[in-house]
Amino acid sequence: MPNPSTQRIVVGVTGASGALYAARLIQLLVAADVETHLVVSPLGQRLLRDELGLDSVDLAVLAGTPAPPPQLIAHHAKDVGATIASGSFRHDGMIVCPCSSNTLGAVASGNAQHLIHRAAHVTLKERRKLVLVHREMPLSLIDIRNMQTVTEAGAIVAPANPGFYHQPQSLEAVADFVVGRCLDLLDIPHDLNIRWSGKITPAGPRKDPA
Ligand SMILES: Cc1cc2nc3c(=O)[nH]c(=O)nc-3n(C[C@H](O)[C@H](O)[C@H](O)COP(=O)(O)O)c2cc1C
Repeated sequence: MPNPSTQRIVVGVTGASGALYAARLIQLLVAADVETHLVVSPLGQRLLRDELGLDSVDLAVLAGTPAPPPQLIAHHAKDVGATIASGSFRHDGMIVCPCSSNTLGAVASGNAQHLIHRAAHVTLKERRKLVLVHREMPLSLIDIRNMQTVTEAGAIVAPANPGFYHQPQSLEAVADFVVGRCLDLLDIPHDLNIRWSGKITPAGPRKDPA
């Protein structure tokens, strides 16, 4: 029986570039001991393979732990009968990271193709927090209109749009800027160095790849 005070977050990973964002998000949610319900769309699985070299949704690798952590629970994208497909399953918010234009459109139209879309619709109807980490550029007018629609429905569009004023020295540090802002939106504690202090923090020595 999970601790009732444990935060519970639903994570959807879709087929937009930026699998590193998803991995860092999962690692930080697990580190914060958040009960994390993960769904990866079929194209999301392709991105995990293409960008992270994962042949499957390997929970240990994604979480950066020696074994799959008990607080990370995977659901199959085809399983629209999963717990998270129902509004009676209570959680503290859902994040789609990265979020494709396809999934943005599916959320805007209410036309679910898989469990991520269904869980997102449910999150909106239950008036819970939904964060969509959209990644595409440039934007079509259709994307822009879909962003307006989901925002009016209560979602937060948080584009995968890193800042550089913390002078990141690695790809992980770039990703952590976006992930840290998303954790803030979901009220998940973290100690990432992403806060603007009023001045540029001098960077340490650059870590060039060997
Ligand atoms: C390698 C690769 C990269 C892609 N990158 C993006 C992207 O950054 N943004 C996007 O909106 N779609 C991207 N797509 C297209 C989506 O994967 C495609 O629209 C798919 O239908 C999304 O399905 P899903 O939303 O169910 O994951 C990419 C596809 C591939 C194969």
